[in-house]
Amino acid sequence: MVTFKELGLVNSRKMFSEAMAGKYAIPAFNFNNLEQLQAIIMACVETKSPVILQVSNGARKYANANLLKNMAKGAVEYAHELGVDIPIVLHLDHGDSFELCQSCIESGFSSVMIDGSHLPYEENIALTKKVVQYAHSHDITVEGELGVLAGIEDERSAQSHTYTRPEEVEDFVSRTNVDSLAISIGTSHGAFKFKVKSGEAIPPLRFDILEEVSRRLPGFPIVLHGASSVPQAIVAQINQYGGKLENAAGVPEDQLRKAAQSAVCKINIDSDGRLAMTAAVRKVLAENPSEFDPRKYLGPAREQLKELYKHKIINVLGSLNRV
Ligand code: G3H
Ligand code: 13P
Ligand code: ZN
Repeated sequence: MVTFKELGLVNSRKMFSEAMAGKYAIPAFNFNNLEQLQAIIMACVETKSPVILQVSNGARKYANANLLKNMAKGAVEYAHELGVDIPIVLHLDHGDSFELCQSCIESGFSSVMIDGSHLPYEENIALTKKVVQYAHSHDITVEGELGVLAGIEDERSAQSHTYTRPEEVEDFVSRTNVDSLAISIGTSHGAFKFKVKSGEAIPPLRFDILEEVSRRLPGFPIVLHGASSVPQAIVAQINQYGGKLENAAGVPEDQLRKAAQSAVCKINIDSDGRLAMTAAVRKVLAENPSEFDPRKYLGPAREQLKELYKHKIINVLGSLNRV
């Protein structure tokens, strides 16, 4: 067992209370490899932003749990070397069992999500409560979820949203003792969030649900999943250099900016990073067909990713200069 404190990480408690008071949201960026991690740390150091490094079960299988633990430790040291000791959380994204959460906690994670949102309500409560009891005994913070997002998350997918029912949130939070709650207000995972044709308006998020949830849970940190904006310039770059992404659409940035100023303290972004990297790699390889040094295409991909993250921090989340 290695504790998150030994790795130089923090849990999300202080981060969320500061985000709530300052009316901004903490970036939760997913990573699976070295270049994504480098881009996240460089962007957050340059903007002096706290950060949540997010790892899905799939990412853990892809990258190896041991390597990830040491990468997180390395990230703390790398930020220090770059000159700013930003607070860093290592968070399990969409944990689906007690055993997975336990394994992550034992290998240095400082925060876990237990996603029982697909289960019947009482089963979600029982599972979440069990994870919270174990996690809190190790000073680890826990995110729960009520309501189901449409789209694909890890190995699960749902055809349509089941919006969070505000009348359940007080009971859920008081019986489970979770530290934060992910809710479903119309966002979804992936790069095809809305079935709209080009020129058609994207349906607005259900801010009425968010407001009712925060009225019932004053000062309680809310989490927004599926918050990529799918920047059309990046989609165009992918398509220009041989890709084929049709009708890709995301959550407009102005809606996320509004959410970040409310009780939403954590905003999850994965797909936008995937798109940015893919666009850069495609451009390099299309323009230099004889290139075969991975540093020559992953380097520009890392650069494009860093710029994307800085843009999110400065113009969407508001977590700039909060360290
Ligand atoms: O919500 C899902 C995240 O984007 C992680 O995706 O399971 O493909 O790593 P993944
Ligand atoms: P996106 O697919 O919108 O980036 O959402 C990521 C996410 O919610 C990770 O948990
Ligand atoms: Zn998610």
